[in-house]
Amino acid sequence: MKAERIAVLTSGGDAPGMNAAIRAVVRTAKAKAEKENRTIEVVGIRHGYNGLVNIGEIIQATGGYDIENDPQKNAILMELRTVSGIIHKGGTMLYTARSNRFRTPQGVALGKLACKVLNIKGIVVIGGDGSFAGANDLCTGEDAVHCIGIPGTIDNDIRCTEYTIGFDTAMNTAMEMTDKIRDTMEAHDRCCIIEVMGRNAGDLALYTGIAVGATAVLIPEKVNTMEDVVNEVSDRIEETRKTGKEYFIIVAAEGVSFKLGISTQTIANAIELKIKEIIKRERESLSELERKALEVEDIEEKTRVTVLGHVQRGGCPTARDRAVASQMGNHAVELLLEGQSAKIVIMKDGRITNCDFALSRKDAPAKPFDEKFYAVAHELSI
Ligand code: F6P
Repeated sequence: MKAERIAVLTSGGDAPGMNAAIRAVVRTAKAKAEKENRTIEVVGIRHGYNGLVNIGEIIQATGGYDIENDPQKNAILMELRTVSGIIHKGGTMLYTARSNRFRTPQGVALGKLACKVLNIKGIVVIGGDGSFAGANDLCTGEDAVHCIGIPGTIDNDIRCTEYTIGFDTAMNTAMEMTDKIRDTMEAHDRCCIIEVMGRNAGDLALYTGIAVGATAVLIPEKVNTMEDVVNEVSDRIEETRKTGKEYFIIVAAEGVSFKLGISTQTIANAIELKIKEIIKRERESLSELERKALEVEDIEEKTRVTVLGHVQRGGCPTARDRAVASQMGNHAVELLLEGQSAKIVIMKDGRITNCDFALSRKDAPAKPFDEKFYAVAHELSI
């Protein structure tokens, strides 16, 4: 019986849970093959689309490609045991890349050539919206290859799905890091601005903010100017100081800094000036005696910035990420083996289903912003 071949690759920024999705792809394909008395081989393409392009170049240069004898291991054959012991690991066993070469028609043509020569009938692409744009090129036009996407990014910013693999782990990491910072902020009566990732989306900041009880959450969906930022934060600080709060946790999405074109440190400097003004104003309303008692308190350098950075992308995936990734990987292979293409596995109303690639594009309808959730974060931070 002739073997059918499918492939899997990870692309874009890695996200905890990608390994669980790879495992699910391989194991589902093997289970289906067994059940339906077919032979299905799974090829792992390494380093994202760069792996495919490299294979295409090798074929162009040598006339063929031998998986077993590629010293660069651009592709590997994946068996049941290849994916043992990876479900709990962050990163991606297949490595990843943001491939500039695949953004060109020549790169896509090389990728298609690689699939043709390797007899790959369909590919599962695990990544973000940029990765799906690449997959869309691969599954259209001449020599199209069937593609199914699985959303994997800590940003939770893909329009057509409620959830992306990695988001829960990143949020928990950001929460744990912020809890640690909180201890020292409290000890010094300081204000910290914690910058979290998320690209142009505020989800990671908003969910982290609510989980740590932040005094204010700054997200690109809600702020448009530096004035907005400083007013939002200083109003919250002034209000909470009145009821005795002395330290403040501000969670800021990196997207705010991208949107305003200034660094989070610059935002923090402006907030610090405001805090000093607030404290001075408070002191002016005190009696001479009360003021004297406070003179020893230092009101300088009240603010500290921590950019959490790539720590948010690493680490063991949470149970939620492992479970969602497993379900998504399973569904992706079901779709591929049914002969479907140009679909993304998504979460909708808490259930795993799928939609067309087109709905992940930047011109597709935006995900509705959860105003109620934002309002709750605000209300509870008092
Ligand atoms: O998309 C995932 C992400 O981690 C974003 O949150 C962040 O803006 C970006 O990738 C960082 O990219 P890099 O790893 O290339 O610095």
